[in-house]
Amino acid sequence: MNTNKTYLEKLKLEAANTIENLLSAEDIETWRINYLGRKGKISEFFQSFKDMKSEERNELGSLANNVKKFLEELYDSKTKSLNKSDIQESDFFDYSLPGTPNSAGSIHPTNQMMQEICIAFNKLGFNIYEGPEIESEKYAFDKLNIPTNHPARDIWDTIWVKDVGDIKSLVLRPHTSPMQIRIMENNEPPIRVVIPGKCYRYEATDNTHEWHFHQIEGLVIDKNINFSNMKSTLFEFARIIFGEETKARFRCDFFPFVEPGAEMSINFKENTWLELMGAGMVHPKVLNNVGLDPNIYSGFAFGLGIERAAMIKYGINNIRDFYANDYQFLKQFK
Ligand code: DAH
Repeated sequence: MNTNKTYLEKLKLEAANTIENLLSAEDIETWRINYLGRKGKISEFFQSFKDMKSEERNELGSLANNVKKFLEELYDSKTKSLNKSDIQESDFFDYSLPGTPNSAGSIHPTNQMMQEICIAFNKLGFNIYEGPEIESEKYAFDKLNIPTNHPARDIWDTIWVKDVGDIKSLVLRPHTSPMQIRIMENNEPPIRVVIPGKCYRYEATDNTHEWHFHQIEGLVIDKNINFSNMKSTLFEFARIIFGEETKARFRCDFFPFVEPGAEMSINFKENTWLELMGAGMVHPKVLNNVGLDPNIYSGFAFGLGIERAAMIKYGINNIRDFYANDYQFLKQFK
């Protein structure tokens, strides 16, 4: 009988130790079959003492029943804890959850507009140049027929750059027009170019003004270029950018580097005209400044705000939206 009791104790211990380390449902099921199954070790034990005297048999029987119950409870709690951890960790995947979007960057709306405008002028036969953002006063103003102390300088609220050694009178360019001079100084006519670039002005910001913004400068120089050439080129450009039906109008305006000067507005909505650019015939003094004879050569120039073009095209009311880095705004232009 002692042997039987010891065997039972050992069996209980062994079973409890084994189940503790089991991790998979299959292993636990094998364990159950091995100990609690119809031909398992517990039933085997019951079989072994069925021929004993009743007294002994009763005692061993109740001991064996306790062990059996103990193992059954072990089995239950093990399967429960296994199911729970299964769900929390590895196997559970909620297919209804939204995915993680792949937020790739895109080209800024100002640059998109700039590219579109450059492509439009390129189709019309223009080359594309770029120029320095830090300019000398000579190119930003003097050579463009805007001498020092001339009241017209007030149009350009300039940000001056500290003099560096011999290099004096530098400005963050307030417009792209200085590139007209640089191009004419370095190229023989015929010239047909556009120059996109960033500009800076020392001024308070509001819905239509930023202290930095982008312009595209245009310049055409050849023999026999007249105002009609300018109008037709700029009309054609407006139709490419804003659509076939676009109406445009020219009105007199003043810029020291052109004569006559004009502003071109386009018909935005019914009865709403928005100024898109300044333009005009290159002033004879400017031609003289770069060594071109105004009796032989003539030409036209124009300058437009890129953000302004985008505002007209997309109905944006506040220029500051372009530089607020608001993702909701930017993602509309993906
Ligand atoms: N530079 C001018 C500005 O910043 C724009 C401009 C007007 C450019 C007339 C031109 C032009 O080339 O002919 O306001």
